[in-house]
Amino acid sequence: MAEEVKKRAFSGVQPTGKVTLGNYLGAIRNWTPLQEQYDCLFCVVDLHSLTVAQVPAELRKNTLELVALYIACGIDPEKSALFIQSHVHEHTELAWILDTIAYVGELNRMTQFKDKSRKHADNINMGLMNYPVLMASDILLYQAQYVPVGKDQVQHVELTRDLAERFNARYSDTFVVPECLLSKSGSSIKSLQEPTAKMSKSDPNENGYISLSDDIDTIRRKLRRAVTDSDTDAHCVRHSADKPGVSNLLNIYSLCSGTSIAEAERLFEGKGYGVFKDAVADAVISVLQPIQAEQKRLLGDKAYLEAVLKRGADKASCIAQKTLAKVYRKVGLIPQIR
Ligand code: TYM
Repeated sequence: MAEEVKKRAFSGVQPTGKVTLGNYLGAIRNWTPLQEQYDCLFCVVDLHSLTVAQVPAELRKNTLELVALYIACGIDPEKSALFIQSHVHEHTELAWILDTIAYVGELNRMTQFKDKSRKHADNINMGLMNYPVLMASDILLYQAQYVPVGKDQVQHVELTRDLAERFNARYSDTFVVPECLLSKSGSSIKSLQEPTAKMSKSDPNENGYISLSDDIDTIRRKLRRAVTDSDTDAHCVRHSADKPGVSNLLNIYSLCSGTSIAEAERLFEGKGYGVFKDAVADAVISVLQPIQAEQKRLLGDKAYLEAVLKRGADKASCIAQKTLAKVYRKVGLIPQIR
């Protein structure tokens, strides 16, 4: 009997600054179960990080820490390819081809480009604008059907679909047109200080996010300081649109404890925000502590991490070479004689 070909899933996180609870609950955590069903590739997208100024030594450190974090969060290098984006040169090569079919107007309209241009007004570089084309290249290179990401990346995946369809229409069927996989309640974890904005690792206010490397005391302190809502219903732990702060904490509690939102509302009825916030902190700590311990252990074994990265890049390169050769042929480039 012919072996069933598994569908493919691809995702990545930038090794920029501190990885947050939002990155974990909105993305990384949801990758683990996919490994059973799909052929998965998980990438540390270091080239994307260069679109904002980096300290080189810190970028190297963050990159390795993120590799260890992926494994500590449950990515199994025996099942999935885990690799660093810059180790597979086809990413930037395909990005160039996609650049030739991407319109300046559509890149200019990307919400994240506009946000980052505001935040880094002194460094609105071409890479920042081209960022979604490199992301499209990451995905299309592997013919991935599924892209598990948080809500803030949906627009980029939509652009990826547009570019795939445009290329296919112009040069005949070449790319799989990918779809987003969003987690139900984790797809947009909000800032603890401004619960209508997303929790972001680039937030200048450290109290706005929980970093996956925060220690117990810091997690408790940040959650105690989390903005709740002042309304007539004060101290009522209820999930609703007019209570964004409490709703965000309920989401975090539910995702970290495995309790449903409705159950959590019942559990904290009449208990007040103080008790509730401590319980959220306990739930977050119980999830992060074992991850932190495992990440630390892995970082002590550089040889293992290097072996994982080599194997991951070898597997990824094999797929990437095939796609790029096909693309070069379709657009009319003459293959090099070797
Ligand atoms: P990045 O590094 O900003 O974020 C990594 C992942 O975390 C998700 N995320 C969130 N989810 C829920 N709530 C939040 N507050 C939150 N903040 C971040 C993001 O949606 C993302 O899934 N461009 C991407 C990296 C990338 C990529 C790719 C992703 C490059 N190439 C190819 C998928 C496929 C980014 O900057 O993610």
